[in-house]
Amino acid sequence: QDALKRAVAKAALEEIRPLLTPETVIGVGTGSTANMFIDELGTLAGTFKGAVASSEASAERLRGHGIDVFDLNSVGSMPVYVDGADEIDPGFAMIKGGGAALTREKIVAACAERFVCIADESKDVAVLGQFPLPVEVIPMARSYVARELVKMGADPIYRQGVITDNGNQILDLYDFPIEHPVEMESRINQLVGVVTNGLFAARGADVLLLGRKDGSVERR
Ligand code: A5P
Repeated sequence: QDALKRAVAKAALEEIRPLLTPETVIGVGTGSTANMFIDELGTLAGTFKGAVASSEASAERLRGHGIDVFDLNSVGSMPVYVDGADEIDPGFAMIKGGGAALTREKIVAACAERFVCIADESKDVAVLGQFPLPVEVIPMARSYVARELVKMGADPIYRQGVITDNGNQILDLYDFPIEHPVEMESRINQLVGVVTNGLFAARGADVLLLGRKDGSVERR
């Protein structure tokens, strides 16, 4: 799995290399695949302006490679955002947030012109929902939101002991096949107390770099 992730991380560097100028700031995601991308990006530190990170963990790793990390408010738009996914479907809708960074990921992705998804082939699914869908909630709303999600047919489980970078909590929705990700993303976001959910469908990926077991990387 690590070799597959390393291969897509290298492919992502080649994908974005033409965009890197001394003025370029790029968006960088969170997770084990994104970490490998950060390590690759480190080889080009100093040749571009810097990055906006979707988590404190990624920011620290970027700085460790000598890459400047900017506050999103000081940057505006970015040419590209590179991040992993927990699942991606044929329409390039994704489930993200296994690492609890979904809200910042969605914000940084929204500011980027293109979303490059980097994943190994285990993430490539026909229908989203085998992987539990994370929902970030304001702590006082957790039980209310969970009851409303049960009415929608989900089985929400509180991710004990996890506090997001924004000070909130996570409910994971198990056994929840998602046939219509754009609609479901919006429906869950309508519940009072939900900060965001891990469906990246209204704004999905633009490019998928998928690592295959035979060592190849497929670009879709
Ligand atoms: C972090 O919150 C997630 O959205 C990650 O991008 C996703 O979980 C993929 O992580 P891995 O690259 O570790 O599988």
